[in-house]
Formats: sequence, C-alpha cells, structure tokens
Amino acid sequence: MKGIFITFEGGEACGKTTQLKLLQQYFKEKGTDALFVREPGGTALGESVRHLLLTNEDIQMCGKTELLLFMASRTELYEKTIKPALDAGRIVVADRYYDSTVAYQGSARGVMDMEDVLSLNLKFLDGLKPDLTVYLKIAPKEAFLRKENMPLDKMEREGLTFHQKVADGYDYMVQKHPDRFIVIDATQSIEDIHKQIVTAVEKLATKSQESEN
Ligand SMILES: Nc1ncnc2c1ncn2[C@@H]1O[C@H](COP(=O)(O)OP(=O)(O)O)[C@@H](O)[C@H]1O
Ligand SMILES: [Mg+2]
Repeated sequence: MKGIFITFEGGEACGKTTQLKLLQQYFKEKGTDALFVREPGGTALGESVRHLLLTNEDIQMCGKTELLLFMASRTELYEKTIKPALDAGRIVVADRYYDSTVAYQGSARGVMDMEDVLSLNLKFLDGLKPDLTVYLKIAPKEAFLRKENMPLDKMEREGLTFHQKVADGYDYMVQKHPDRFIVIDATQSIEDIHKQIVTAVEKLATKSQESEN
C-alpha cells in the first residue's frame, strides 16, 4: 500500500472532531489530497450500524455483540474505502479505528483480553497498522465538563469508571506501540494541539517521501 494512514483516538470529547476539521482545512489550503472517514460509519452499512450502536435507544446488546458490530462496520469501511484509497496512494485520516475497540470493548467492557481484541481486528484488516495514531489524552473527568450541556450518545452516557478504563486501555496501547502513537495533552488550546498534529503529520509525509525516492 502506497498511501499514508493516520488515525485519531481518545475518549469522549477529547477534541478529535475539532482537530480533524482543522487538519482537513490545513490539507485543503495546501492542496494536499486526503480522505477523511469516521467510525463507526463511513459506509451505508456503517452508518446504520452506528445508529444501532450509539443512538437507537430501543436496542440493548451484550458486549460481545457490540464488539462484533464495531468490527463489522470497520471491516466494511476498510474494504470499501480505506484500502482502495491507500492503494491509490492517498492520505487517509480516520476518526477512531481499532484502538477504540481495544479501549472500549477490551479494557472498559472487559469483553475480551486487549491483545485478543487487537489480533482479531488485525485478522480482518489485512494486518494493516496505521502509520501514525494521534492520541488526544485527557482525564475523563475533565472531558466530561466539555459535554455538560450537550446531548450524549449511549457510549458517552457510561459512567466515569467506564471512561477511566477506556483511558487505561489507550495508555496500554501507547505503551505497547510507542512508535506508532503520538500522545498529545488534549487540555492545551485547540490551536496548540493543531500545531503539534501538523508537525507530526509533516514529519511522517517527509519520511514516506524519502522512502519512496
Ligand atoms: N483543546 C480544547 N480545549 C477546550 N475545549 C475543546 C478543545 N477541543 C475541543 N473542545 C470542545 O470540546 C467539545 C468536544 O470536542 P469534539 O471535537 O467534538 O471531541 P470528540 O470528537 O473527541 O468527542 C466541543 O465543544 C469542542 O469545542
Ligand atoms: Mg467526535
């Protein structure tokens, strides 16, 4: 695969959408072609699954089913969108990817050992790992304050203990894969965080250009 694959991770309200919009704008101004996708979703099937998982109040499911639905949505997005774009040499940026399943269904829900969640995902995704994962780190307590007056989805309504375990899951992944992750303190200003993301992305783009030449 010739493209560059970047994923954004972190708990609720850490600032992923905010930063993705800024990065999208940055690429647009530079005339850099990049494809932005979101999880779960990004395909017709994925958007339906997203509704089941996050907004449909009538449907409750066990943790294992939840894990499988997130993986189904991701597999569809990978096959239909991510893989073809990377094969065509494009930059692909994803709002969440499999580290979310490790953190939410593995660590927080305790459905399965985190390593097993990871290897199960990789089996469905051609073993492909992101070139860079931007982890926006914030204490759940602090992140919750940002969503005080906003409507919350099913995952966001889980308590602080759940979200602390999500954070622990991310910390575990960072420890296991220090090369792929950059950890950014998400309590900084939106602009400062953006600058750090741009620096990391530029560094990655240069590295990938050098290896092509
Ligand atoms: N660095 C920041 N400092 C303070 N508030 C922020 C910051 N980044 C995002 N926010 C605010 O926090 C809320 C959640 O941000 P959002 O980007 O939607 O997070 P996520 O997509 O990770 O859930 C929004 O109201 C956003 O304006
Ligand atoms: Mg978001």
